[in-house]
Amino acid sequence: MNNQTKSDQTISKEEEAAAQQEIWKYVFGFTPMAVIKCAIELGIPDIIENHEIPITLDELASKLGCSNSLLYRIMRFLIQYKIFQEKPISETREMGYSNTPLSRLLTRHGNRNMADFVLLESSPVMLAPWHKLSAKVSGKEESAFGAAHGDDVWAFAAANPEHSKLIDNAMACDARVAVGAMIEGCPEVFNGLRTVVDVGGGDGTALRLIVEACPWISGINFDLPHVVSVAPACKGVEQVGGDMFDHVPKADAAYLMKVLHDWGDEECIDILRKCREAIPQDTGKVIIVEAVVGEEDHAFKEVALMMDMVMMAHTNKGKERSLKEWSCMFREAGFSRYTIKHIQAYQSVIEVYP
Ligand SMILES: C[S@@+](CC[C@H](N)C(=O)[O-])C[C@H]1O[C@@H](n2cnc3c(N)ncnc32)[C@H](O)[C@@H]1O
Repeated sequence: MNNQTKSDQTISKEEEAAAQQEIWKYVFGFTPMAVIKCAIELGIPDIIENHEIPITLDELASKLGCSNSLLYRIMRFLIQYKIFQEKPISETREMGYSNTPLSRLLTRHGNRNMADFVLLESSPVMLAPWHKLSAKVSGKEESAFGAAHGDDVWAFAAANPEHSKLIDNAMACDARVAVGAMIEGCPEVFNGLRTVVDVGGGDGTALRLIVEACPWISGINFDLPHVVSVAPACKGVEQVGGDMFDHVPKADAAYLMKVLHDWGDEECIDILRKCREAIPQDTGKVIIVEAVVGEEDHAFKEVALMMDMVMMAHTNKGKERSLKEWSCMFREAGFSRYTIKHIQAYQSVIEVYP
């Protein structure tokens, strides 16, 4: 009793037992990500998806040409996390593996797969800056990504085409989900627009989906030259290379998805002013698709907070913003009003008017 600290005395035995159990989640916090990455690299979710009935361990091991015992342990771990499940194979008692809603998101099928996002975030390049986070927070380093790689993430991507491709593919995963949710939840955002410029549009996936759903729109996908030079051609979307800090191509609306969160307030105000110059002052708008932190009822509120940490690790001054912070920035950039809509994604849709 004498050795107990004041705070120990206020903790019940149950709370202490729960904490002792919970701490292991953080000790080995990296494990689920690493094992999911392993499953994606081996192509396990796709093999299971393409197998008409649940696949046995022997069948899966033989398709992969790998050891039954290692594979068994990988699958046992992932089943615990509901990534895969075991089901009886019809008419026999033998069990086989099948996909769950979660592992289906790791296949290469469908509009909602997130495999490439896992591969980006678990890549050595993106993991290295996390080891510099305390140096950044304590002020010893200006940027965690810079301390790890000597450059910011966009300059690094320009010099490393393979990493740039990883980023583009990962962003395309998220774009498919967010644009799908927009088209489902608030398609009216695109009514009456003849042209839309996607500023920092990556490989053009978002604009391709918007133009497919709203064929009256002509799209301009605007991004850095090294990104648009390898972006796939797409009907209804013109690829334009450039720097959004210099200028933004003219259109009825400027679309900014997951771009402003990469930058500090002053840079965002600069980008927003460039967008304002690019749209008609009377009928134009800027469509921002970003997280809003501090919305207590938001189903994805934890994702927004995680994303905020990702911005701290991977960008110089980027951050996720509260509605109050967004509102101040819009005013500073010279906009008069905005509306906000929630969709079935971690981002919200903010329409901002000159
Ligand atoms: C987080 S990604 C978002 C991509 C896309 N909007 C999406 O949501 O899928 C940010 C994008 O901004 C682009 N970017 C960075 N600096 C830029 C600049 N100065 N001018 C234009 N685009 C830029 C990057 O190349 C990258 O494609």
